[in-house]
Amino acid sequence: MSRTFYITTPIYYVNAEPHLGHAYTTVAADVLNRFYQLSGFETFFVTGTDEHGDKVVQAAEAAGQSPKEYADRVSRLFRNMWPELSISYDYFIRTTDEDHKRVVVSILKKVYDSGDIYFGEYGGYYCFGCERFYTPKELVDGKCPDHKVAPKFIKEKNYFFRMSKYQDWLIEYIGSHPDFIRPERYRNEVLAFLKDPLEDLCISRPKSRLDWGITLPFNRDYVTYVWFDALINYLTAVGYPDSEPYRKFWPSAHHLIAKDILKPHGIYWPTMLKAAGIEPYQHLNVHGYWNIDASKMSKSLGNIVNPLSLKDKYGLDAFRYFLLREMVFGLDANFSENALVNRFNSDLANDLGNLVSRSIAMVVKYFKGVHQVPSVSSEIDEKLRDDSSGAVQEVVARMEELAFNRALMAIWGFIASVNKYIDETAPWTLAKEEEQRERLGTVLYNIAEALRVITVLIFPFMPTTAEKIWVSLGIREDLHTQKIESIREWGGIEAGTTASKIKAIFPRVEQ
Ligand code: MSP
Repeated sequence: MSRTFYITTPIYYVNAEPHLGHAYTTVAADVLNRFYQLSGFETFFVTGTDEHGDKVVQAAEAAGQSPKEYADRVSRLFRNMWPELSISYDYFIRTTDEDHKRVVVSILKKVYDSGDIYFGEYGGYYCFGCERFYTPKELVDGKCPDHKVAPKFIKEKNYFFRMSKYQDWLIEYIGSHPDFIRPERYRNEVLAFLKDPLEDLCISRPKSRLDWGITLPFNRDYVTYVWFDALINYLTAVGYPDSEPYRKFWPSAHHLIAKDILKPHGIYWPTMLKAAGIEPYQHLNVHGYWNIDASKMSKSLGNIVNPLSLKDKYGLDAFRYFLLREMVFGLDANFSENALVNRFNSDLANDLGNLVSRSIAMVVKYFKGVHQVPSVSSEIDEKLRDDSSGAVQEVVARMEELAFNRALMAIWGFIASVNKYIDETAPWTLAKEEEQRERLGTVLYNIAEALRVITVLIFPFMPTTAEKIWVSLGIREDLHTQKIESIREWGGIEAGTTASKIKAIFPRVEQ
């Protein structure tokens, strides 16, 4: 079996600046990517920007710029934001890239030639916010359920993708691949949607109404509908149709999205792939929405949270930790700065921070001649070792099901065991008696070893903090090249490794 992992985020519209919601998806993708690397997979991580369509034209007009100038500027904001959040993607895609346009055109041709695209007239309720037509049934009190505005009735000639033809296939496919769309609530949502007859998808816009898009190869008076264009980014980014990365990574494609764009990803995209003769993606992973102090985040409410200001205030790793610890993957979560401060003080400053500083301080103090991690005597602590392998096993299982919060709970469970071990063995008492010297060495060795395991486990979530702890533990091997295997075994730290004292990694924050 190939051990590859391809992870994507949505490509974000350039009509708004990056905020907490975008940051969450992209941080979660980064954590997964790092975790799969740790598990020995060859990975590829893609994010980017979605730049065509009405919305971008309108935003550009409001800013007094051309769509391209505008898209260049906002795309750069996204691209520059990610490294500041320790996100290491492999490829940043823009839908205005030439190679992407070529791939979209080639897929359109393929589907057109096979007879699955036809020309027809359609009258429907069009929501400009969603950039799509609504059926009367989908409207709530005659309004778009998302944007709460009455859509405009538009009648025009357009090209349509025969999506309806693939309805039965899709139902069958989802039925026989239970974790194609997950968590289950979203799989059920898609299946419920597929209970009604699927309409064909309008995939063009006449240039007379909108010309900021990719021209259709079979009619130059039309551009491609922005969603048909955008979804294809996932193929362009790995070099579809005939590159090595495409062959290698496409079979393991994991898309990460929020529930707002479930329909395009759960219905349009698999049927488009099927029509183009391409294997479906492997998993669609859907998370919930962040609300701010219990209301929706929106420009009009003026409660948009800027990730960089939180990072500046609490540090990057605390921010990453909070996002992944607080949200139950699949459900909505509430963001409040108060909750962040509470987590910071209890989980980070107290549990992890104290463990790190007192453990390393003891190694340095009691073996201060050379600041060395002592060599372990015959009696390793079996209980601690078992707790460690239990935690590793649970973290792996939880990460596979995207239960980030539970993975973190498993790590923190182990942190609690180590803190308890320290309290029970009381190295400060052992240090007072010369005949306990060997026992003291064993205890400190076990503590240092437990800290090594913890450091590797938190690395995907908090890379900078993990790096600091690693350095002060004095381990020579590179943290970035560690594998889960290395922490399944007890005894990875070489005796004699030179530890050095560490400053408080998470100094408490006053509320
Ligand atoms: N351009 C499309 C996606 C095309 S993908 C082929 C789009 N862009 S978007 O800028 O609106 O981004 C939507 C995504 O941003 C969500 O699916 C989610 O990943 C993230 N989020 C935006 N607001 C969010 C919250 N309030 N909470 C959680 N995630 C949110 O849709």
